[in-house]
Amino acid sequence: MMERVAHRGYSAVAPENTLPAFAAAIRGGATFVEFDVRTTADGIPVVIHDRTLDRTTTGTGDVGEQSFSAVASVDAGSWFSPAYAGVRVPTLAETLDLVGPSGVQLLMEIKRPATLEQVKTIVDVVADRGLAARTIAQSFDPSVVEFVRQVAPSMRRGLLRLRFDPAALELAQSLGVVCLNPSTADVLSDSTLVGAIAGAGMTVMPWTANDMTEWPALAAAGVTGLITDHVGELSGWDGAR
Ligand code: G3P
Ligand code: CA
Repeated sequence: MMERVAHRGYSAVAPENTLPAFAAAIRGGATFVEFDVRTTADGIPVVIHDRTLDRTTTGTGDVGEQSFSAVASVDAGSWFSPAYAGVRVPTLAETLDLVGPSGVQLLMEIKRPATLEQVKTIVDVVADRGLAARTIAQSFDPSVVEFVRQVAPSMRRGLLRLRFDPAALELAQSLGVVCLNPSTADVLSDSTLVGAIAGAGMTVMPWTANDMTEWPALAAAGVTGLITDHVGELSGWDGAR
């Protein structure tokens, strides 16, 4: 069976990167919960994908330029459905407190820009809850991955690639990552890609596997897991194979 990675939680059924989405992911059989971390202007790590509040909340403007109290005051649920009106942008700590007891692993993406100090605060929050060993910290930004290595050398790391090119293998090896995660399109367009990454000692969990018709080919390519908005469906499908 593959790792079933709930992308921003079970984001097909609940607003992405919120506590209801993470609870749904656990109920839906996720083996990993993926989420995105940014830091407010006053240094609080919060879980939200976009650089700004605009798309997924009732607020506007850059997360990194606002106080935590401002970010915590906006509604992060009603854009998805009135059923989720009043849901808030969770802190990293709240997210860990919800997911931690489930035993599910954490695929924590640290979004750019992030300073060394911000990355240290983020990994310290994870370590303080005893979750460092259950966490892979990943980023598209190699400098952020390097910051993770500096502040928490024993935490597993991952490198994301927007478009894969051969130099990514060497870059990933130099960063000492355990997984190198390309897009599903790159896996499906190059039958040698997963083997090449595995041959270099890393696993592959491509993003974002939302087209279920692609799941058989991705599984056949030898991926370790799939990152998907539809983790409940993936649990049903993968368990039946
Ligand atoms: O974990 C991989 C995936 O989440 C990367 O893309 O834009 O959804 O953060 P994005
Ligand atoms: Ca992400």
